[in-house]
Amino acid sequence: MSKLKNDLFLRACKGKKIQRTPVWMMRQAGRYLPEYRAVRSQSDFITMCKTPELAAEVTIQPIDLIGVDAAILFSDILVIPMAMGMELEMVESKGPVFHKPIRTEEDAKSLSEVDVDKSLRYVLDAVELTKKELDNRVPLIGFSGSPWTLLTYMVEGKGSKNFSEAKKMIYNNPKLAHKILKKITKGVTNYLNAKIEAGCNAVQIFDTWGGILSQSEFFEFSHEYITQIISGLKRKDEPVIVFAKGVYYKLKRQIKCGADVLGLDWTMDIGRVRTRLGDKVALQGNLDPTVLYAGHDTIAKKALAVLESYGKGSGHIFNLGHGILPDVPPENAKFLVDFVKEASVDFHK
Ligand code: CP3
Repeated sequence: MSKLKNDLFLRACKGKKIQRTPVWMMRQAGRYLPEYRAVRSQSDFITMCKTPELAAEVTIQPIDLIGVDAAILFSDILVIPMAMGMELEMVESKGPVFHKPIRTEEDAKSLSEVDVDKSLRYVLDAVELTKKELDNRVPLIGFSGSPWTLLTYMVEGKGSKNFSEAKKMIYNNPKLAHKILKKITKGVTNYLNAKIEAGCNAVQIFDTWGGILSQSEFFEFSHEYITQIISGLKRKDEPVIVFAKGVYYKLKRQIKCGADVLGLDWTMDIGRVRTRLGDKVALQGNLDPTVLYAGHDTIAKKALAVLESYGKGSGHIFNLGHGILPDVPPENAKFLVDFVKEASVDFHK
């Protein structure tokens, strides 16, 4: 049994009985917190990722300041392309940039296999240190990008509107896309296994750009590789959460990937998804992140609507439908978390 003082999140992931709904927020370790910005003003983003003491510090900030029921390790999905030899630059107000994107067979050959112990030791050290400093207060979530979402950054070289380069690759040279996806999949599987071994209590796979694909391409280029990763995980009872933003269709086929929890974006009707899937998986989500710009009354009303839509019983992890935005007032985040903790009790009687 876990020695965690608060294991509501893990119990909800497995649909076990709980007294209230657990709550955490994607991107909770981030810029909306002045305390995060204070640490960030002293180091660049990649240095923070690579320095376990700093990563642990900002991971724990939302536990202390906002009161969430789970910690998510401060890091980035792009540590995987870095471990494959790509040089990442975080450009202020622009986001991540790879100056040498992967477009050709030659480029793909230059990608090395991910050696987790060598290239990503700093993440495992951050997990171990964070676990120590958390002292079992709440569970720690580890994460990775999905192979498809990682491929979009590796091929585009930066964020994108139309994803023209990634799409060119899947339609002009699907063999090459599959070859790279396979290599990423192997790396991500080893990476998540190492994170679990280092002490993560759950893992989440972010498929932020799954929704830009048409349905058959989603299953071919994204879902297939998520499925392979999950089947390759060596875990005791650590739950796996899959968040595929914008992928609102074929839910029964989606959960065949083996996820314990399906993360939903805010465009979905969580109650209808629950009706459709029954108790086969738990659901995570899905308040529109921009509701946190509103006043407390509106936040309470909209959060209650999510709780009501899901309805009574376990299997719901309250979250936003995507990451918290950098200019949200921290007191609104705190209000939301306090509200969910209190208002959700009625849904577990
Ligand atoms: O959830 C958490 O609090 C844990 C930390 C976390 C970060 N990135 C920290 C971060 C997580 C889980 C991520 C995942 C991530 N990174 C995703 C998938 C999740 C999602 O939101 O869709 C993606 C697509 C990335 C890639 C990435 N990293 C982008 C596009 C950017 C720049 C844009 C932005 O949001 O700032 C980043 C930078 C980044 N990752 C920051 C943080 C706190 C901001 C960096 C800074 O402090 O300047």
